[in-house]
Amino acid sequence: MKILLIGPPGGGKGTQAKKLVSRFNIPQISTGDILRRHVKEMTDLGKKAKYAMDNGELVSDDIILNMMNNRLIEKDCDNGYILDGFPRTIPQAEGLDHILNKLKSPLDKVIVIQVKDKIIIERMSGRRMHASSGRIYHIKYNPPKVAGIDDITGEALIIRPDDIPETVKKRLEIYHNSTSPLITHYSTYNKLIEVDGSKDIAVVFDSILSSLND
Ligand code: AP5
Repeated sequence: MKILLIGPPGGGKGTQAKKLVSRFNIPQISTGDILRRHVKEMTDLGKKAKYAMDNGELVSDDIILNMMNNRLIEKDCDNGYILDGFPRTIPQAEGLDHILNKLKSPLDKVIVIQVKDKIIIERMSGRRMHASSGRIYHIKYNPPKVAGIDDITGEALIIRPDDIPETVKKRLEIYHNSTSPLITHYSTYNKLIEVDGSKDIAVVFDSILSSLND
């Protein structure tokens, strides 16, 4: 099962990807999580990516494609994966087509999670994250058992530095300009499914599961 999730920042890609991981036992490949790890560990890649990420801009296509070229040939991808946050531009989508053609391993489904901008702004202000695992919470819609604390490790949750309203607005603008054209790119493959991401987390998950059976 090779699934690509497309959606606006805060649209619920990470939340749904984690539920799909538990259900299908395949890895979530989140370029955002990989980049955040590089930034935290201050690798060369992390140093190059930090400015763009903090400012809500995209990291360059070259860096991302190089990173994903290496990631998609790892052993844990043999039975499938969930792509979350990649591709995000037409050159990245073309790069992914090229990688998958070489591997003779096409995507099975492209799922677009649709959420209006107004809802996104509210969601982002309430998001909390466990930094090392990428586990995601929301103070109202998906709260941890104890406020500010990760359910599994007991460690403190953080607010992502790019979740401040001005940066979120910029990320949304970039999504509409650079990422939403991917919907047209993938609709030519006829395996694109759109789900209403404004519903409850469990309802969105059910829509995704039923679309996978179509
Ligand atoms: P990335 O980490 O990918 O951020 P994003 O795409 O902007 O998406 P988010 O992680 O913000 O949101 P999400 O859709 O996963 O929503 P979530 O499930 O958390 O990228 C970060 C940065 O890295 C980019 O800005 C860029 O700089 C760089 N980058 C990454 N990939 C790149 C690439 N390919 N090319 C170039 N640069 C790249 O949900 C949000 C909140 O809402 C949570 O609190 C959650 O609990 C809550 N929630 C979720 N679903 C629901 C629901 N149905 N109802 C109510 N609340 C909900």
